Amino acid sequence: MSLEGQRCVCVVVLLIHTVTGAGEGSSSPVPEISTIKAEQNELTVTFPPLDEFYGNAPEKHFGTENNTIVTSQTGSTALLPCVIRNIGDGIVSWIRRKDYHLLTVGLTTYSSDQRFQAIHLQHSEDWTLKVKFVQKRDAGIYECQVSSHPPTSIFLRLDVIEARAQISGPTEKYLKPGSTLRLQCSVVQTTEAPAFVFWYHNSRMINYDLERGINVTTDPAQRLSDLLIPAASVSHAGNYTCVPNNAVPASIYVHIFNGENPAAMQSSSPCPMNSWYIHVVLYSFLIHLILR
Ligand SMILES: *[C@@H]1O[C@H](CO)[C@@H](O)[C@H](O)[C@H]1NC(C)=O
Ligand SMILES: *[C@@H]1O[C@H](CO)[C@@H](O)[C@H](O)[C@H]1NC(C)=O
Ligand SMILES: *[C@@H]1O[C@H](CO)[C@@H](O)[C@H](O)[C@H]1NC(C)=O
Repeated sequence: MSLEGQRCVCVVVLLIHTVTGAGEGSSSPVPEISTIKAEQNELTVTFPPLDEFYGNAPEKHFGTENNTIVTSQTGSTALLPCVIRNIGDGIVSWIRRKDYHLLTVGLTTYSSDQRFQAIHLQHSEDWTLKVKFVQKRDAGIYECQVSSHPPTSIFLRLDVIEARAQISGPTEKYLKPGSTLRLQCSVVQTTEAPAFVFWYHNSRMINYDLERGINVTTDPAQRLSDLLIPAASVSHAGNYTCVPNNAVPASIYVHIFNGENPAAMQSSSPCPMNSWYIHVVLYSFLIHLILR
């Protein structure tokens, strides 16, 4: 059998091994593997050409593209893939480039920050770096290094985005009593759907306040939550805040008033002061100042 033939057999055996190891009994192992990788890393793993061959051992090389970019949302778990073929007895280390901090060696975490962990399933060729509870300061370049002479590395960039809520329309709304109040909150800049969205009226959580005339409907998959008050009354005035579990909240202020001048009617409690009364108070104050 030729060297190329041997290598083919070797790759096929490895594939069958990996698929069997993952418990996926399938008649078509190659597409199965591509699917698994694509889900985990949003990458398509391609197999290298078999036409280069040096020496006896199959050559060590990376299956993950150099300079790959991974985007994660704050608070989520980031997965930085590093697939190495024919690693032999090579050891994989992850290094954070901004401060040359050694994060992991093999399966051991060296960083005091336990959010970093190398993930490697037996018989797999993947040495993914897992970063839990991603923070903005985690953004930057990470190096996946394989020990050899000299060591070889690929570099991955982690981009961190901050998901936030957004209530459509202006940040203040003016309504007449009896009219419909509809607030739509969308969660933007996300890589993950929210698990839940809470609405607050001032400091009260109102998701389940149907008997107070408030109807909240949330569609997490669409990253949308709607608040509907079919007939708003003065008691519905105030600060409304949309709080998704994994994003920065958004607020809007609702004024419910009867009449022409919203500025004079901002308080939701009945106000005894009409304008002539305010004038009388102001004038007496001025006269008091002048006569001192
Ligand atoms: C990956 O790219 C960097 C430069 O961005 C280079 O130094 C390094 O050798 C490359 N690694 C491989 C395996 O090609
Ligand atoms: C709440 O609003 C949704 C649509 O936004 C509607 O389908 C549902 O029937 C309403 N529920 C009540 C109790 O009014
Ligand atoms: C509304 O409530 C939110 C959350 O409590 C707060 O951050 C915001 O400052 C409030 N806005 C106003 C106008 O009171």
